[in-house]
Amino acid sequence: MCGIVGILGKKAVAGDLVDALRRLEYRGYDSAGVATVEDGHLDRRRAEGKLKNLEIRLSNHPLQGRTGLGHTRWATHGKPVERNAHPHMNERVAVVHNGIIENFQELRGELSAKGHVFQTETDTETVLHLVSDYLDQGVAPVDAARAALQRLQGAFALAVIFAGEDNLMIGARQGPPLAIGHGEGEMYLGSDAIALAPFTDTITYLEDGDCAVLTREAAEIFAFDGRKVERPAIKSVASSLLVDKGNFRHFMAKEIHEQPEVISHTLGSFIDFAEGRVHLPDLGLDPAEISKISISACGTAYYAGIVGKYWLERYARVPVEIDVASEFRYREPPLEKGGLSVFITQSGETADTLATLRYCKAQGQRIASIVNVRTSTIARESDVILPTLAGPEIGVASTKAFTCQLSVLACLAIALGRARGAISEAQEKELTHALAEVPRHVSTLLHNEATYERLAHDLSKARDVLYLGRGSSFPLALEGALKLKEISYIHAEGYAAGELKHGPIALIDENVPVIVVAPADELFEKTVSNMQEVAARGGKIILLSDAAAERAGCALEAHIPVPTVHPFVNPLLYAVPVQLIAYHTAVFLGTDVDQPRNLAKSVTVE
Ligand code: AGP
Repeated sequence: MCGIVGILGKKAVAGDLVDALRRLEYRGYDSAGVATVEDGHLDRRRAEGKLKNLEIRLSNHPLQGRTGLGHTRWATHGKPVERNAHPHMNERVAVVHNGIIENFQELRGELSAKGHVFQTETDTETVLHLVSDYLDQGVAPVDAARAALQRLQGAFALAVIFAGEDNLMIGARQGPPLAIGHGEGEMYLGSDAIALAPFTDTITYLEDGDCAVLTREAAEIFAFDGRKVERPAIKSVASSLLVDKGNFRHFMAKEIHEQPEVISHTLGSFIDFAEGRVHLPDLGLDPAEISKISISACGTAYYAGIVGKYWLERYARVPVEIDVASEFRYREPPLEKGGLSVFITQSGETADTLATLRYCKAQGQRIASIVNVRTSTIARESDVILPTLAGPEIGVASTKAFTCQLSVLACLAIALGRARGAISEAQEKELTHALAEVPRHVSTLLHNEATYERLAHDLSKARDVLYLGRGSSFPLALEGALKLKEISYIHAEGYAAGELKHGPIALIDENVPVIVVAPADELFEKTVSNMQEVAARGGKIILLSDAAAERAGCALEAHIPVPTVHPFVNPLLYAVPVQLIAYHTAVFLGTDVDQPRNLAKSVTVE
């Protein structure tokens, strides 16, 4: 989960490299660095921590040179200290890397035996010494890079520049994304199109096994074994998607408040609201013949998938198997041919989700991805894309992407339910009408933030927080717990409310806030019993519900009212209070809301 950029420019490139890294910071921000070729010599500046530390370093010690590399790091091997920051460099070669070189220890031993001295704990430094070793043998730079690539095992995106080569840059991809940007007399490399957006909108996405040989005038692409390959140059929309925070304090706040609009866009791309009908792209198989749907995703996207399971089984009457991608891919479940495998991902680059997609494809499944980045690897490897129209989500904690994923899953459940005869035309109209009202209700929920600021004050003192929910509110409890822990660093757990008495109730005392996600649906009375069990043990209950507080039948620490809507769409609404609870608690605690410690927005390594 690092960000890579490279520029063959017409002028000094250090400033542009840093600008591009700023747009890649969402991929990781433990440390950053740039390296350039100046008068044939390699030089670099690196800094621990956020990008602004590198900018200070560069302003004190500027770098010249029209050829350069930049990198923002999320540490996989080696502590996040300057010594381990990229670019890794010696007097002949500079390298930046995203991913994991799995055979780096074996290569390190071989190279050390040949006299190479390692300065860091990183796997990346192995690449540096491997390329240098071929150069020492008299191999030309391009061939040295290609020979090194053929020795590497694992997942990597790499960029390499060479001393004495002012008009050469090598890029390589095996897993994590890498794209070429075609400029006017300039050439670029970047982890994604957003990084390159200010320079160009003409992009070539490398595929696994591609090695790009770039000069200012041309971009040639080869397989690692040297065979020439062709990849199209396309117009990227990323330049129109360059984002800023507007008048919000954080990207996460902006993205929470964008939800009425982006949910509306996403629903509108599938629903004819006049007809009350859902129109999906052709899934490439007969919905009535689908024996089972498998769903796989990670993190917040996985919780969206659990909601999807409830909907698909209830409204489309189709069995659903769901698992986190990091388990699914190694469990290797037998899948009947002709099944539908659904992958949910904001970035479209999550390594575990991609690996599971490839497993399911090999098992003869039809592959559908619910994805926010339509040019991503997962989108490109899917048979059919069901896009979320959330726009770029910069905050590491996913918010608008989550509710847009729910919007797509709701449409999928309705469409399959109709096609399988599980719901009537009248029911389709009823459910699509309920969805049509969601943006308005979400907007209502965004108006009483003062409630959350008061709540944050109390929650910020907690060491542990429990979230409870039943039915399709159970995954909302899981999502609420994830949101809180990942941005406020307070430990939180989501639980099925019915499981409380099977263990978690031992946690309850006056120091453990219990947040209960409980719409006034057919399960509400069951959850009332759980709340009373908590209250009887001194637990502090925060109830999120459209039910009146009195219906809880016990003392509440707080009651956050939610509009009463069709039970089908409750998950879309209850996402907002759990997002705002996490956001305001994190703001109160002063954590880095948009770039929480240890996290990255796109987990492109397993
Ligand atoms: C969400 O708040 C987290 N940042 C994380 O769990 C995320 O949902 C997960 O890494 C999956 O990412 P993806 O949707 O890009 O695949």
